[in-house]
Amino acid sequence: MIRQLDNVFVLDTKNTTYCFRVMDSGHLEHLYYGKRIAIYSASDAIALFEKQAFSSGSSNVYSEQYPTLTLENVRLEMSSYGKGDIREPFVEITHSDGSTTCDFIYRSSVIFEGKTPLDTMPSSYEDNGTVHGLTLTLYDAEYGITLELVYSAFEDRDVITRSARLTNNSDRNIRLTRLMSAQLDFEDNGYVFTTFNGNWAREMYRHDHLVNMGKHVNSTYAGTSSSRANPFVMLSRPSTTEDTGLCYGINLIYSGNHYECVDVGAWGKSRFLTGINPASFDFLVAPGESFESPEAVMTVSEDGYNGMSRRMHAFVRECIVRGEWKKKSRPVLLNSWEASYFDINESKLLRLAKEGKDVGIELFVMDDGWFGNRKDDKRSLGDWYVNEKKLPGGIERLAKKINELGLDFGIWVEPEMVNVDSDLYRAHPEWVIDIPDKPHSEGRNQRILDLANPAVVDHLISEMSKIFSCANIAYVKWDMNRIFSDYYSKYLPSERQGEVSHRYILGLYRLMRTLTERFPKILFEGCASGGNRFDLGILSYFPQIWASDDTDAIYRVKGQTGYSYGYPMSTVTAHVSACPNHQTLRVTPIATRFDVAAFGVLGYECNLCDMNAEDLKAIKLQIALYKEWRDVLQYGTFYRGRSGNLYEWTCVSEDGKRAVGMILQVLSEPNSAFTQYFPKGLLPEARYHFYNFERKVRIKPFGDLVNMISPIHIKQDSLIHNIVDKFVKMPGEVEDYVTSGGVLMSGVKLKGAFAGTGYDENTRFFSDFSSRMYFMESETE
Ligand code: GLA
Repeated sequence: MIRQLDNVFVLDTKNTTYCFRVMDSGHLEHLYYGKRIAIYSASDAIALFEKQAFSSGSSNVYSEQYPTLTLENVRLEMSSYGKGDIREPFVEITHSDGSTTCDFIYRSSVIFEGKTPLDTMPSSYEDNGTVHGLTLTLYDAEYGITLELVYSAFEDRDVITRSARLTNNSDRNIRLTRLMSAQLDFEDNGYVFTTFNGNWAREMYRHDHLVNMGKHVNSTYAGTSSSRANPFVMLSRPSTTEDTGLCYGINLIYSGNHYECVDVGAWGKSRFLTGINPASFDFLVAPGESFESPEAVMTVSEDGYNGMSRRMHAFVRECIVRGEWKKKSRPVLLNSWEASYFDINESKLLRLAKEGKDVGIELFVMDDGWFGNRKDDKRSLGDWYVNEKKLPGGIERLAKKINELGLDFGIWVEPEMVNVDSDLYRAHPEWVIDIPDKPHSEGRNQRILDLANPAVVDHLISEMSKIFSCANIAYVKWDMNRIFSDYYSKYLPSERQGEVSHRYILGLYRLMRTLTERFPKILFEGCASGGNRFDLGILSYFPQIWASDDTDAIYRVKGQTGYSYGYPMSTVTAHVSACPNHQTLRVTPIATRFDVAAFGVLGYECNLCDMNAEDLKAIKLQIALYKEWRDVLQYGTFYRGRSGNLYEWTCVSEDGKRAVGMILQVLSEPNSAFTQYFPKGLLPEARYHFYNFERKVRIKPFGDLVNMISPIHIKQDSLIHNIVDKFVKMPGEVEDYVTSGGVLMSGVKLKGAFAGTGYDENTRFFSDFSSRMYFMESETE
């Protein structure tokens, strides 16, 4: 519900309230964002108003008419430079006279029902609940510029979204150098600003920054939302935990250069901003033209990080992801990349697919290497015709044969890129982002096509349409494997070069929108060297994203925990891969690799043809188990428990009756006290059957301790040791309890862990990189 009470605006959702007012000067003062509070009339909000009795020290007074108003000391809904506020601004403009001062004053407002989409970018929507909208119009009378602030209150989701639109009503060009999407001003400081940063193969590590004074910035200039700094961030208190305390979660529906910052001003007030990165951003807005900023998504909870995540997950699932696959079970796929890299051909792929079918795979994906002369990453990007030497019957024949095996078929593409060694580049050197006659800094031996140029986007629509319709293609992995350098579009005049990165993203969105509308049945998976573009813009078109090229379970448990703060598991894809792992060379049990990958959209990416019978048998069981629990694992409610040396996850079905849990230990602690698993989100009164599946334990990892149980002496690593390892297994521990959800959530005491002693079915062998999955089922009506 959105209400205007005199000069006070109140945006209520089911459990939260967002409130601001129009000050006498016409500026907008932010009053409150947090759990729902009752505001019945304008006078109820007076207690929240800033009360300035005099101007202070070296600060500026706004105007003679308002001699006590110091904008530097007010919580504002939007801010600009030049009239006293010297903190980070919401908007920056260079006017035709060269000045950069702006002063936006309230003019009018409209409250409406429903959600209006943005014109140029993807935005959130609601099919299943109520949304109230509010547009405020502000005006800078000195320069003739209109600024609209757009708010949406998602009643049932406890989410507020914001965006802005600037219109040049003057008769001169202006240069817009910053237009943020949301601003949140707080009365005090000492917030913990949590960001998720990393790099290739190391995405989404959580970093907490306590901002008492000064500024902390999370931003990227990669041209993508990037693995360096994901646009999803949190603000919380030092005392906030996973399940208690205040936590704001904020994300941006944008896939390019973004910027989030917390700036603490001279009075200790904190300001949070999110939007397009102003670095090198310079957009020429001609008379009569408008510019809109992406939509920012905000939620707040007093139930800690998990409370916030639950709201964010539901919002992403319901109001961002769209189309045919929004709620459909995602297939278990087998991807060819780590099995054979570029060295693929029809018979190899078919052999792999056949093995996949035998273990229960549903979708076979041919990754990179199938087109042009693509024998390595130095050539052929842009030449989207099949390599007949590798696939003599083309994609069509391969797809048909894969289908005949009873599998769906999927394909890899990287439409946005071109190698200099390609027919496309030779024909259209003017279509790439590089600076004419200047040396170019290359990434993965490739260049970025200039999607700011509509002709390039049209070309890609036509090329991709040909591929997607040439055979029965059920799935597309859409890759993007370098970051930007040498920003320059030969399509744009020199005075518009500051627009390249944003116009690229607009071109990308047109490309994705057209193709996903044209091929609604295809399941698209985003990818950018793994998670270099994991954001809500991509998720508005592609329902799932390859979270990282790093398939090592011990990295993944940390990275997927990072993703889980802002993104639901149905958007995060995760594969079981070879051992030792190709990125880290780490040796982990196949059970651990599965346990981690199962908390997401599961796939396999390894050479099943070379795997031993024992691993294949394990994989077959894994896939069968995953299929049984897939609805809970992909669409259930996700809860984080402990993170660190021990990770603890739980996923609970919507009705609370089925749950899957996982614990993973990075390094084993000698004689460790850890014996409990704490599920979350169960129905406290309901009775559950809690159980695991016994996992037989191999002998070999015990080394010469084998002699503690062997009737004859076995020399370590001898032939006999290897034979015993193959045929003799130790019992694994079994956990089996029937009790209430309340009891389980108070901590399930697990069977004691091996600590130098104990060799029976009552011992949990829990060495480095071990994990367990637990299942909970309630029969209570
Ligand atoms: C990127 C992707 C990988 C794989 C390769 C192919 O690195 O992230 O999954 O598709 O490209 O070149």
